[in-house]
Amino acid sequence: RTRPAALAAPARPMIVAHRGASSTVAEHTLAAYEVAIDGGADALECDVRMTRDGHLVCVHDRTVNRTSDSRGVVSDLDLSALDQMDFSSWHGTLPDSADQLVADNPYLAGVSPDRLEGGGVLTLELLLGLVRDAGRDVRLLIETKHPTRYAGLVERTLVDVLARFGLAGRPGPPASLRQPADPDSPVVVMSFAPTAVRRVKLLAPDVPTVLLLDRFLPLRRDGLLPTGVTIAGPGLHLLREDPGYVERAHARGHPVYVWTVDRPADVDFVLDLGVDTVITDRPVEVAAHIARS
Ligand code: G3P
Ligand code: CA
Repeated sequence: RTRPAALAAPARPMIVAHRGASSTVAEHTLAAYEVAIDGGADALECDVRMTRDGHLVCVHDRTVNRTSDSRGVVSDLDLSALDQMDFSSWHGTLPDSADQLVADNPYLAGVSPDRLEGGGVLTLELLLGLVRDAGRDVRLLIETKHPTRYAGLVERTLVDVLARFGLAGRPGPPASLRQPADPDSPVVVMSFAPTAVRRVKLLAPDVPTVLLLDRFLPLRRDGLLPTGVTIAGPGLHLLREDPGYVERAHARGHPVYVWTVDRPADVDFVLDLGVDTVITDRPVEVAAHIARS
């Protein structure tokens, strides 16, 4: 088959706010995403999991124990129960210090204290609404976590939600894994699980897919990704191990999105490699650093 054309390194990588501006504000809260948008992030990253009653919510861990004032497994809980929980206070900076937060971060001026102090679980639909109403183009990178209980249902529900927002065609008969994705798509779907990526590709072939990599095996080191994957998503540690990976992926036509890059020295390292996207907990600081570089 014909190879995609080789990619050139971008002039400036896209800056993606990992779980929102999650170093400043509790991850996966509206406030964290609002701060990232106001701070100039090009795109937002979120993790999605399915509740017992079939809603997609933005929570990283299998349980709510780390990021809320409650305990439990996300997929054992209904949305109404998750809505009662406080997903902000655990972070420490919120909710009692919105004023201080604004004083420390002038770019937050204008964000309402309610937003900064908001608490309940964030649904994917709420986040898509925030992105739609951002007033400028902001991309959303959605990572499906892999609850075995809901194999396949997560991807179908995700594509259905995206279709309601006009971001994907309605799920139809299986398409081809080889159909090129839309490079300008406002949403991108990511997963560590190749099967999840393939399912999304078949349901929504226009939507670019990222295969996240925390190790190179069993994929080949030459940048070759399974059919249906648009973008390579290596962890920063993999690029340290194998800096030539970016060039090889580009030669195969795959953009490279690297995670999670927070320290200025690491930003410089991946800039030199020519990555396409920097996924970071510190989008505002990284944007300022890149602008100075
Ligand atoms: O953006 C990719 C990155 O989020 C993958 O790791 O554990 O933070 O979801 P994790
Ligand atoms: Ca993630």
